[in-house]
Amino acid sequence: MMSNQDLDSLKKAAARTAVEFVRDGMVVGLGTGSTAKHMVIALGEKIRAGMTLRGVSTSKETASLAKQEGIILIDADNAWVIDVAIDGADQVDPGFNLIKGGGGALLKEKIVAASAKQFIVLVDHTKRVPVLGGSFPLPVEVIPFGWGSTAREIEALTQSRVVLRERNGSPFYTETGHVILDVHLPRIDSPRELEIALHLIPGIVETGLFVGRTDLLIVGTPNGVETHPAPRT
Ligand code: A5P
Repeated sequence: MMSNQDLDSLKKAAARTAVEFVRDGMVVGLGTGSTAKHMVIALGEKIRAGMTLRGVSTSKETASLAKQEGIILIDADNAWVIDVAIDGADQVDPGFNLIKGGGGALLKEKIVAASAKQFIVLVDHTKRVPVLGGSFPLPVEVIPFGWGSTAREIEALTQSRVVLRERNGSPFYTETGHVILDVHLPRIDSPRELEIALHLIPGIVETGLFVGRTDLLIVGTPNGVETHPAPRT
């Protein structure tokens, strides 16, 4: 069993490999979470070594770290062209489909990943799973109005337990003012079909399923960093 500190060093190694794909002048989508944090710091080092780049942040947390690291941010209101987005994930299946949203930033993360020319995903080896679901619930971002009935619709669709995410005893609100329902699915055999079916339920803004979006997977393992292009579908 690896300690959190050991896992963190694997995340850091993966992040350092990822920034080697960033070229001078690029616009970089900056993910959120403990793995993405290492990537932002590594980009800061690149800037101090003379590289020019700009970022699009997926959360306030990442934006504040990026500013500290000297990364110029393009605000959300500007039209952007993102060359590469780099982000962590909570689970990765053999087709490189993902569950994301453990940190609650999934909506902005998905918008940024979708608009990037290349999407690079960084994980430590423990995030790779034979099938999505099980140990990690699927985060679904919903409008607060009528969240209970949205939850019941998701329960009926998935036959799984749905839990309103809370923080300190109150509902957790995302940066865009929504709430998160965590769906405890034992296994997600057809992520694409599930994503489509969820989007038909009124009140759902976005799901933490990232299907067919990963271009490159970078995995920190105890034996070194592995870089895998996405399997052809
Ligand atoms: C944030 O909402 C998430 O999608 C994160 O990218 C994901 O939870 C991975 O986070 P860690 O790198 O902290 O494990």
